[in-house]
Amino acid sequence: MLGVCYYPEQWGREKVKEDLSQMKDLGLQFVRIGEFAWSRIEPHPGLFDWEWLDEVLDTAESLGLKIVLGTPTATPPKWLIDRYPDILPVDREGRIRQFGSRRHYCFSSPSYQRESCRIVQAIASRYGRHPAVSGWQTDNEYGCHDTTRCYCPRCREAFQRWLKARYKTPEALNRAWGTVFWSQEYRSFEEVELPNLTVTNPNPAHLLDYFRFASDQVRAFNRLQVDILRAYSPGRFITHNFMGAFTQFDHFALTEDLDFASWDSYPLGHVEWGRKFYELREYFPHSGHPDIAPLNHDLYRGVGRGRFWVMEQQAGPVQWAPRNLSPAPGMVRLWTWEAFAHGAEVVSYFRWRQAPFAQEQMHTGLLRPDSTPDTGFAEVARVARELASIPLPPLKPSQVALVFDYEAAWVFEIEPLGEGIQYLPLVLSFYSALRRLGLDVDILSPQSTFSGYRLLVIPSLPILSEAVVERLSTFQGAIVFGPRTGSKTSHFQIPRELPPGPLQKLLPLRIVRVESLGTFPEDRVTWKGKQYPVSRWREWVETSLSPQGILQDGKGAIFGDNNRYYLAFWPDDTFLLDFFEELAQKAGITTTRLPEGLRLRRRGDLICAFNYSPENREVPAKETAQFLLGGRILPPYEVAIWRETL
Ligand code: GAL
Ligand code: ZN
Repeated sequence: MLGVCYYPEQWGREKVKEDLSQMKDLGLQFVRIGEFAWSRIEPHPGLFDWEWLDEVLDTAESLGLKIVLGTPTATPPKWLIDRYPDILPVDREGRIRQFGSRRHYCFSSPSYQRESCRIVQAIASRYGRHPAVSGWQTDNEYGCHDTTRCYCPRCREAFQRWLKARYKTPEALNRAWGTVFWSQEYRSFEEVELPNLTVTNPNPAHLLDYFRFASDQVRAFNRLQVDILRAYSPGRFITHNFMGAFTQFDHFALTEDLDFASWDSYPLGHVEWGRKFYELREYFPHSGHPDIAPLNHDLYRGVGRGRFWVMEQQAGPVQWAPRNLSPAPGMVRLWTWEAFAHGAEVVSYFRWRQAPFAQEQMHTGLLRPDSTPDTGFAEVARVARELASIPLPPLKPSQVALVFDYEAAWVFEIEPLGEGIQYLPLVLSFYSALRRLGLDVDILSPQSTFSGYRLLVIPSLPILSEAVVERLSTFQGAIVFGPRTGSKTSHFQIPRELPPGPLQKLLPLRIVRVESLGTFPEDRVTWKGKQYPVSRWREWVETSLSPQGILQDGKGAIFGDNNRYYLAFWPDDTFLLDFFEELAQKAGITTTRLPEGLRLRRRGDLICAFNYSPENREVPAKETAQFLLGGRILPPYEVAIWRETL
């Protein structure tokens, strides 16, 4: 099903009927509204103007459109900030972040927690049972614009309370953090500051606990809204629109309080943004990276316990990336189909009409500012027709799973140890290699049971608990562990038995030294007679196992025992492709090496193919394939869907 993000407050009441009817005619079922409309809902303290919103909801109802109602807490109005200036957050440099854009609030502010509850309760008590309201979106993109971590006095106090609950005594905290180093010892929790504005690196355990605390604060803030919505709006779903691969808070944890996950997909924006941080191979400026949006679909399906939406789907050029390219013709349709192939329940476009004013005036939508259809409009109309004619069977569980961990991202962020050593690029290269082999991937949290898969891939899991090792020890399939796995305790210390810590129970090896390398190939690993470049990272291993791959100095880099493998270096994508191919074959998983820019995704007995490249590609369909969409030769930016009959 399809939807759109709409801002009726920006267009005046006379437009509503016309806009909603046109959405209906386009084949949309859902309309998300309200998430930035606080100043129109409550223009003065305690004075509510519901009329315009009543009208939108009633019109939607009369047309049979379903509304996703956003709570407006991402944009507290000016009068509220003036009343309670302690709502404003403080940045890492200690500066107050002022009113004038959005997300100008601190998750720990007691005034803001109270005021958010008040506005959510007002809206939910008015519309909670409205027949047009199918569900709720809490706030908007938690953490966007670097707002997860705040350094204000409210956060300092809340952090001290959090530490006290965790450690009970200052002595325990001192031991856990190792504060004897550099005379950092604390006599009470009240002495502990936030880890910003220090002369050089703060204590890494201090940082890690602060990151955990900040993550918990986001969840607690969201929970306040969820509890109110549940009480006033029975039978409606609650979701939140997360951002693409954003790691500053634990999305698995927060989503435990929601019905499913949603995320905002801007494939060209993400790719341009990503390119600032790491080198992306196999990327096409006008269609994106064939694995970045899919990685997020799979991640959010995992986060959402099998259920996810794309709440905002790029429908034309955005305005916020380093360069803002125009999607190749066909890409809006392709991105939509790709989302459904990965199990999305709804894809909702951003936004209905481009606004000629304010911060996002250069951000396109389905309509131009003068209400004429922009190019995405016709593609959406086409997808709507196609969706109506192709019933999609449910997803089957994949044979391959990848473990994703937010804490792992924090460990890499706190202690990269070298240039370009980041968690997300590592995850992307593991994921990409699997996808280039034509495999479907489920993404799991370390908390899951892992059972039922034939191959489990763990790009890195620095903090590895005994409980996870326990579950891994009974896992039946093959497991691949990437570098730095098991390298830290939960207090950010080197494990007593040396890395990989508790993983030594599954693999008899010890990491006795690590070395960070350049971002260019500085070493080579030889595996099965072939050489592969190594950059960024390598480890020295002591073990009784004989190596399956060796580095240039003859030292072992790939170890395997009992169907479990450890990679003691930063693997590049050419290595991962060959390595996973062999493991998959051993595990009885069929692979298909796909040409550049072509990807597959199965949904029940349907196989979907996507061509991100600017050239024709042949899809690997059997002779007997029955095409429901497209054909064997896939032109650029096209989609094919087929069924393989016996
Ligand atoms: C999202 C946000 C929207 C809009 C959009 C523009 O991050 O949720 O409100 O700003 O980006 O691409
Ligand atoms: Zn704060």
